[in-house]
Amino acid sequence: MKTEPNYNFYIAKGRLPVVDHAEGIRIWDTGGKEYIDACSGAVISNIGYGQVNINEVIQEQAQKTFFAYRLHFENKPALDYSKALVANSVQHLDRVFFVSGGSEAVESAMKLCRQYFYDNNQGSRHIFISRVPSYHGCTLGTLALTAYAPLEAPYRPLIKNYPKIPAPYCYRCAYNLSYPDCDLECARELERTILSQGPENVAGFIAEPIGGASTGALVPPEGYFDIIQATCRQYGIMLILDEVMTGFGRTGSLFGYEHWNIEADIVALSKGMASGYFPLGAILARQSIVDTVLDSGGFKHGHTYAGNPMACAVGLKVLNYILGQDLCTNAHRMGTRLKEGLEAIARRIPVIGQVRGKGLLLGVELVRDPDTKEPYPVDVNAGQLLTDIAFENGLIIYPRRSINGMSGDHVLVAPPLIISESEVDEILVMFEKALEQTVKRIEEL
Ligand SMILES: Cc1ncc(COP(=O)(O)O)c(C=O)c1O
Repeated sequence: MKTEPNYNFYIAKGRLPVVDHAEGIRIWDTGGKEYIDACSGAVISNIGYGQVNINEVIQEQAQKTFFAYRLHFENKPALDYSKALVANSVQHLDRVFFVSGGSEAVESAMKLCRQYFYDNNQGSRHIFISRVPSYHGCTLGTLALTAYAPLEAPYRPLIKNYPKIPAPYCYRCAYNLSYPDCDLECARELERTILSQGPENVAGFIAEPIGGASTGALVPPEGYFDIIQATCRQYGIMLILDEVMTGFGRTGSLFGYEHWNIEADIVALSKGMASGYFPLGAILARQSIVDTVLDSGGFKHGHTYAGNPMACAVGLKVLNYILGQDLCTNAHRMGTRLKEGLEAIARRIPVIGQVRGKGLLLGVELVRDPDTKEPYPVDVNAGQLLTDIAFENGLIIYPRRSINGMSGDHVLVAPPLIISESEVDEILVMFEKALEQTVKRIEEL
């Protein structure tokens, strides 16, 4: 087939297949090849592709308007959607500010937090503490929170050098300790870091409830968030949760914070929120924070596309679909089946060090030797190789490097939450085949 000229540029060289159409958990390219999307794009497509009811709401709203500027008009979809979001969130999070994506949501959370302290006579509080590794977005503001070395390196002089504490990566503990004897040293590091910065200078601590791309679905040990939350409260620091990837049913509950009853001050949302049908993101916050900021002259922040009627109409429909189809329960059930299947593969092909995650946010860490946890050499690029081979076979998964982006290999397996048992089994067969081929390819190197 003749290759059309391409005037786009992407993050890497090379051409990709051109998408034609998609339905359920499957995508077809213009050459007719079928793919199973076992990572929901970038873990976004929670309700799967081609949902007719979303097309309908788009057509309905299009009859009225796609857009009305938020500084000129309120709009009914935004009012209805925020009402539904608040009704389905933990009680103390009762104010919504819309944006159009995950980085915008995280940056809005940072700015609301900072402005609250500024307006509340605590102007010295400006430092944000996050974890290493982590991913919170790629704008210059959020990059100061993200800890994944290859993404930061070129921009170091442009971004704030905020302090980081180790993520609870028990498989490769930063302190060489084991849970529970470790006494959750990684959570206790937060207090030491706050004290070293001066508590009066620290505004917020941000974390993904369950780690996403950078850590490969890292689930914190029991008690972790109790210490984090108590430490934040003790020093008057806001606890910000980045639920951009974990929200909207992904981990088996509507929000990740439900697993441990974490009481966040601000929560950042996007991805599954509109499941790829329209750009949408938001922050949920406590009313007391919002009141302080609005009473002091208003939130000094905002994006042009934010809270537009079409995005909110889609968001409301997606939320109703997730709740109506009980996709949280399906994510839990199918996630358990998928995780058990991946663990069985790990027993058959001993290059999997750990299968981790919750619901349908699962990670598989590859190692050369599961006994010593020795990673594959960096230049083997085992996670990318597995991903490329799986893609050739029609299975899409999501690779990253486990050790701060520099070495180690994991892939995310996170299919749409609408997945059925037989589709889970299909993914497992394809994953095992791709892993066998990868091991063989590595042996031939
Ligand atoms: C946890 C988390 N936060 C923030 C973001 C940034 O979202 P976006 O790519 O929509 O800017 C992502 C994207 O992968 C994410 O996984």
